[in-house]
Amino acid sequence: MELVVPSLDRLPAYADALSRGFWSDNLRREASAREELAKIAADPAAFVASLDDPEARGTPIVLPDGSTVKRLPSYRRWMWDDGFCGNVNFRWQPGTSALPPHVLGHLGYSVVPWQRRRGYATRALALILPEARRLGLTWVDLTTDPDNIASQKVITANGGHLVQRFTHLPAHGGGEGLLFRIPLARAA
Ligand SMILES: CC(C)(COP(=O)(O)OP(=O)(O)OC[C@H]1O[C@@H](n2cnc3c(N)ncnc32)[C@H](O)[C@@H]1OP(=O)(O)O)[C@@H](O)C(=O)NCCC(=O)NCCS
Repeated sequence: MELVVPSLDRLPAYADALSRGFWSDNLRREASAREELAKIAADPAAFVASLDDPEARGTPIVLPDGSTVKRLPSYRRWMWDDGFCGNVNFRWQPGTSALPPHVLGHLGYSVVPWQRRRGYATRALALILPEARRLGLTWVDLTTDPDNIASQKVITANGGHLVQRFTHLPAHGGGEGLLFRIPLARAA
């Protein structure tokens, strides 16, 4: 499995996954998949371009309660193994490893339901950490639901540790979350 930059030639495989029950936004789920399919139908090139936004030129982010916040620099990579098998979202704040309170971690990932438990998420996180290090981050934060054992294993397999249990902001729907941190060794 490799991480690839989203591209037009691979877009049909991504759209197919969305129409088969996959979503990239773990907070807004089905609603986000429907929105992405509509964007792909309207302007496939613009959709692909929007996934790579290291200068935060995109439109504001819509939180689960419908409120909006300014977009951070971000990009998405697709897990590819003879087809689309998942995605990794990476966002960061320039000049600091810290994140604003409404941002649930630097990294989020999802694997298509029919390709889970094959090590893809663990490998995808391992592949993207050097990119975070190259941007100057000294750690990355990740959040999970307390019952998301699979995601917690993905993080700990990549050197992460539990920092704290926290309560989600009302904009994220409340409820408990776990904050993990992966320290990034400095480049030699
Ligand atoms: C979480 C998720 C990304 C894991 O992807 P994956 O490619 O199946 O993960 P891996 O194959 O790398 O497995 C990682 C570990 O979790 C374990 N695991 C995977 N699915 C599991 C499950 N449903 N229950 C318990 N353990 C599970 C694996 O056995 C492996 O454990 P090991 O290291 O002890 O062998 C995937 O389940 C998913 O997309 N879930 C929905 C979206 C999501 O929750 N994203 C994370 C948000 S924080």
